[in-house]
Amino acid sequence: MLVVEGLVKRFGGFTAVNQVSFRVEQGEILGLIGPNGSGKSTIFNMLSGTFAPSAGSMQFDGTEISGLAPHRIINRGIGRTFQIPRPFHRLTMFENVALAGYFGQGKHSRIKAEEAAERALGMVGLTTDRHALVDGLGAAGLKKLELAKALATGPKLLLADESLGGLDENEMDQAADMLRKIRDELGITIIWVEHIMGVLMRVVDRVMVLDHGEKISEGLPSQVSSDPRVVEVYLGTDAVATQAAAAEARR
Ligand SMILES: Nc1ncnc2c1ncn2[C@@H]1O[C@H](COP(=O)(O)OP(=O)(O)O)[C@@H](O)[C@H]1O
Ligand SMILES: [Mg+2]
Repeated sequence: MLVVEGLVKRFGGFTAVNQVSFRVEQGEILGLIGPNGSGKSTIFNMLSGTFAPSAGSMQFDGTEISGLAPHRIINRGIGRTFQIPRPFHRLTMFENVALAGYFGQGKHSRIKAEEAAERALGMVGLTTDRHALVDGLGAAGLKKLELAKALATGPKLLLADESLGGLDENEMDQAADMLRKIRDELGITIIWVEHIMGVLMRVVDRVMVLDHGEKISEGLPSQVSSDPRVVEVYLGTDAVATQAAAAEARR
């Protein structure tokens, strides 16, 4: 579904993403992890058209998408969430999500956009009070709204950026289950970015690890969490072992 080759992003003289190649197969959940500043969001910004790559190619469903404007990429079926949600505070939850629906599939139809919003809000469990303003939402609610906005654009591939930031352990488990459900029930392929790895390891099929903009490891969660390079640069032996064991116990 997605084939990325030799992706590079430079900001002035600084290389944020360096020669990263990977593939994502239809129906899979790929976890993308790495310390803060390792280039995860920058990869999402390139995939979603926010930044043009400095070099490399990104083929989605067989066509090159690098250089396309964000709305064109959304129309081709790549939806994303943002690490820091910025909903319109003067609009209701429903209006925020329906607006995202217009940008995706519903551009020519208010009905379609509103139907997409209805489905997306139901999927993430924000069904009560959907005509309330977004102000009352806490961290977990805002993350759900962010996910609903991305779903309302009708993605085939969902880019979920740090969906767990600011959540407690229980809310993290719920968010992880939600992503699994989106894949299982809607058939949406997912790339999930987190800088913590515990909860993510439980639901992803495969993991890719970045450090200083370079891919340092890739494979099954069990392989990656015992990879010495990951242990060394990413978290330290104890933390990796503890998190991997905790994730295994919850499977
Ligand atoms: N627009 C930008 N201009 C300059 N530097 C940037 C910009 N966006 C990201 N960076 C830098 O690129 C590196 C990777 O950032 P980012 O992809 O956001 O990391 P991550 O999401 O893995 O925490 C960081 O050093 C960050 O400061
Ligand atoms: Mg980030």
